[in-house]
Amino acid sequence: MDKKCAIVTGAARGIGLATADLFLENGWQVAMLDRDGDALLKQTAQRENVLALVRDVSNPQDVNAAMRETHGWAGRIDALVNNAGVAEFGPIDGCDFEMWRRVMETNLDGVFLCSQAATPHLKETQGAIVNIASISGLRASTLRVAYGTSKAAVIHLTKQHAAELGEHGIRVNCVAPGPVKTKLSMAVHSPEIIKSYHDSIPLNRYGSERELAEVIVFLASEKASYVSGQIVAVDGGFESTGVGLPALRS
Ligand SMILES: NC(=O)c1ccc[n+]([C@@H]2O[C@H](COP(=O)([O-])OP(=O)(O)OC[C@H]3O[C@@H](n4cnc5c(N)ncnc54)[C@H](O)[C@@H]3O)[C@@H](O)[C@H]2O)c1
Repeated sequence: MDKKCAIVTGAARGIGLATADLFLENGWQVAMLDRDGDALLKQTAQRENVLALVRDVSNPQDVNAAMRETHGWAGRIDALVNNAGVAEFGPIDGCDFEMWRRVMETNLDGVFLCSQAATPHLKETQGAIVNIASISGLRASTLRVAYGTSKAAVIHLTKQHAAELGEHGIRVNCVAPGPVKTKLSMAVHSPEIIKSYHDSIPLNRYGSERELAEVIVFLASEKASYVSGQIVAVDGGFESTGVGLPALRS
């Protein structure tokens, strides 16, 4: 009962896995949720103080069961990291309703469902929610009509939740990652996109999973006790810049 407990969705790999590991390093216990059972169980088998939740964040029954199981296991829920996400890129006229729904049901419905189901538990601990959006939710770009819109909605949902849940002592913040080389991004970043990111990021490189995890865990922790309703771009400076970087470098 002493150890704090975090739920991290999409924890089988990538940014979610790095976040789970950093919570563990900081002495938390972690409920690791992912719908990819094989990948998740491979990771949880190698760690202590973790609970494996093979669940889908877009399914309300799954989400409610996951919260119940986590509370039964740890006796408390102090933080929820809504990290599970999918990326499908394509032109607007190629985005059919099935693709739109596939993106929305995980990226947006999942955040709504998990946050709502965790709220009664977070009220008990005066806990925190950290949502993972994207720079694609801050800046429109080509091919991201569904993905970018889902992430922009997550940014606003963060503010809605921060406004309403603050009086219960629950803080709600959002991290907007820049590009990180994970399975998700490598499936949709063409060579042109990779080059264009390098050109338009002041730090001139992709970020690492660990660099994202550091900010996510900070926002979930007591160290951020007066931070709520904020969107933190962890993007090597991408969001802050305008035109001219490639010209400056050459
Ligand atoms: N990698 C990047 O460049 C980047 C940039 C901006 C934002 N993000 C965001 O960061 C988050 C993590 O991305 P990542 O790059 O680590 O991706 P990833 O594909 O490596 O990991 C995502 C995990 O989420 C799980 N998942 C997907 N849908 C799920 C669902 N409905 N229910 C349960 N689990 C589900 C997958 O099985 C996978 O294990 C995502 O929300 C993504 O949109 C990533």
